[in-house]
Amino acid sequence: MLLHIPDVFTKAEVAALRRTLDAGPWADGNMTSGHQSATAKKNLQLPEDSDVAREVSALIVQALNANPMFVSAALPHTIFPPLFNRYEGGGEFGVHVDNAIRQRSGVGGDLRIRSDLSATLFLSEPEDYDGGELIIEELYGAQSVKLPAGDLVLYPSKSLHRVTPVTRGARVSSFMWLQSLVRDDADRESLFRLDVATQRVNLDKGPKDQAVIELTGLYHNLLRRWSEV
Ligand code: NI
Repeated sequence: MLLHIPDVFTKAEVAALRRTLDAGPWADGNMTSGHQSATAKKNLQLPEDSDVAREVSALIVQALNANPMFVSAALPHTIFPPLFNRYEGGGEFGVHVDNAIRQRSGVGGDLRIRSDLSATLFLSEPEDYDGGELIIEELYGAQSVKLPAGDLVLYPSKSLHRVTPVTRGARVSSFMWLQSLVRDDADRESLFRLDVATQRVNLDKGPKDQAVIELTGLYHNLLRRWSEV
């Protein structure tokens, strides 16, 4: 499932994040690639241990953990600290699959996650650049994604994907991986659909309605069955 999550940040918040990010120490993006993808990537990234990356990354994780749609769809266990990239002047990222495992060593100790889900948070408005579409291959065909600044797309990390060349302006975004409480994409999607349906009945009938109580119980049972903690 590929999911568009709107308004993770307001336009004013995006502008503030961009002011911080744009002043950061941007460097060649190949420093974070896995060895298989290094040749296919042409962009700039913020070093993951830079103050700017750490500061904005923490704000993004905070916003995502407070976003009900994100939490329901991703069921996050651990969000790997978000990274930042910038494509301009023909910059692109050829077709690839993200690494299955991500790890880094830091002040808080070692972190190692299984990449279940990948996400891109758009931090440039679509009209400010040409190209720069995120193309995600799905079973039923390729999806082209280019979202308003402040919006996020969530997709399975196993998907083949690429970023088309940016031929005008600059495309700044944050990208991230996370380990979900529910490893299987189909199980996670079923839980999300059940949650959305339950919320819908809840809005209509109220939380004391018998159907809402039964659906909530079903969700509880399935999450306990499928989650890995
Ligand atoms: Ni990727």
